[in-house]
Amino acid sequence: MYELIVIGGGPAGYNAAEKAAEGGLSTCVIEKRALGGTCLNEGCIPTKTLLYSAKIYDYAKHSAPYGVSFTGASIDHPAIIDRKNKVVKTLVAGVGSKMKSRGIDVIKETARITGRKGDVFTVAAGDQVIEGRRILVCTGSEAALPPIDGLKDSLASGFAVTNREILDMKEVPGTLLVVGGGVIGLEMVSYYNSIGTEVIVLEMLDHIAGPTDREISGMLKKEYEKRGVRFILGAKVTSVRDGKITYELGGESCEVKGDKALISIGRRAVSAGLGLEELGVEIRRGAVVTDEHCRTSVPGIWAAGDVNGRSMLAHTAYREGEAAVRDMLGIADKVDYDAIPSVIYTNPEVACVGESEESAREKGLDVEIKKIPLRFSGRYLAENEGGNGIMKIIVDKEHGRILGFAMIGSYASEIIYGIAMMVGREMRLSEIQKYVFPHPTVGEAFREAIF
Ligand code: NAI
Repeated sequence: MYELIVIGGGPAGYNAAEKAAEGGLSTCVIEKRALGGTCLNEGCIPTKTLLYSAKIYDYAKHSAPYGVSFTGASIDHPAIIDRKNKVVKTLVAGVGSKMKSRGIDVIKETARITGRKGDVFTVAAGDQVIEGRRILVCTGSEAALPPIDGLKDSLASGFAVTNREILDMKEVPGTLLVVGGGVIGLEMVSYYNSIGTEVIVLEMLDHIAGPTDREISGMLKKEYEKRGVRFILGAKVTSVRDGKITYELGGESCEVKGDKALISIGRRAVSAGLGLEELGVEIRRGAVVTDEHCRTSVPGIWAAGDVNGRSMLAHTAYREGEAAVRDMLGIADKVDYDAIPSVIYTNPEVACVGESEESAREKGLDVEIKKIPLRFSGRYLAENEGGNGIMKIIVDKEHGRILGFAMIGSYASEIIYGIAMMVGREMRLSEIQKYVFPHPTVGEAFREAIF
């Protein structure tokens, strides 16, 4: 009998298990594939490994303006994939040893909740029956694959790939068609464009990068267009057949040819077949409905990470896993969904938190937009020949509180957490002005902007 059964060993699950064990709860994690989930195995970490190799290659190719020249810089894509596998293996093993050192049992099976007797749940894991007083569902998400004509066959033949297969693809396609200009699509655009693949993006909306500040997503698009990427906006993909994609654009049917097609049109929570509906857990459009403590509609069952569909990001998953465990332990806590940073690891990077200019205006908020070119930062200028990055700060006019922030430029991913704290605390610019920012940094452009 466990105090807590965690189903799914991704960032939500393994972090929650660790915190639960530290809090004195006997805990097991049931994971059918590999510890680390999407983030470690086929998401955040593998993509960052690939993108770092591409960045080194880009530096080598574009070093002349800095007075440095390289000859013979080349890419060894299979070696990059091998290194990615090594990084993933190290991190997954690290999670495993963490579980072991905290006394957490890891069961490598598919779990299904089979029933409840009083306050004890029973879970089937392979041929074992496990009992627990609490359940935390952390089963994550999978690539959304709508019934597009030919897609199933194209996935089977290997012409179409998802985030999972593309990270293990050892041959470099001559032309890569990217369906969906969201986060996954753009990070892969960045990698394959850097290593010399012709990249064509088909995006249904009239802009890329989803809810990102429109001015900034426009700048990102322009940057990649300069490097040869073709973006076809307003294109609804209707058929994916080997070597060819058909899409509708302005009422017309068009087609585009390529060697591979990445399908990155969103992700879907994995909640089916877990026995949740049978126990009365509320599920909406496939996602488990949770509150800010990650409680589901059934006492004793919590859900954290992508499976609740609230913010499909690994860092949200960590936080939700913690909040759920604190709730189990009777510690007051709740997730603040208004101050979750998001990052697109393109080159340049994009990072945002809180309101964007568009969302603030849509809500009718009376805001002032403070915008600063990153050229105001000496370090940015020193490190970015010809760079045109910007920061935008969304401030409420009446009280001078920071409501949101968006940035395109170097170190955006590392700068954003500090700003997320300011947004989370709704700090006034007058308060922030009293803090010292290190010099010279790109981040200090923020300080310059708020005066
Ligand atoms: P997404 O929701 O970011 O983008 C999907 C795009 O596909 C949208 O722009 C949508 O308009 C478009 N689309 C949908 N159907 C289409 C069709 N039939 N034809 C053409 N375009 C179509 O989803 P994505 O990129 O798959 O990412 C999934 C999740 O993974 C996101 O929730 C994201 O937050 C997470 N993620 C986060 C990363 C990060 O934090 N850096 C990196 C990668 C993924």
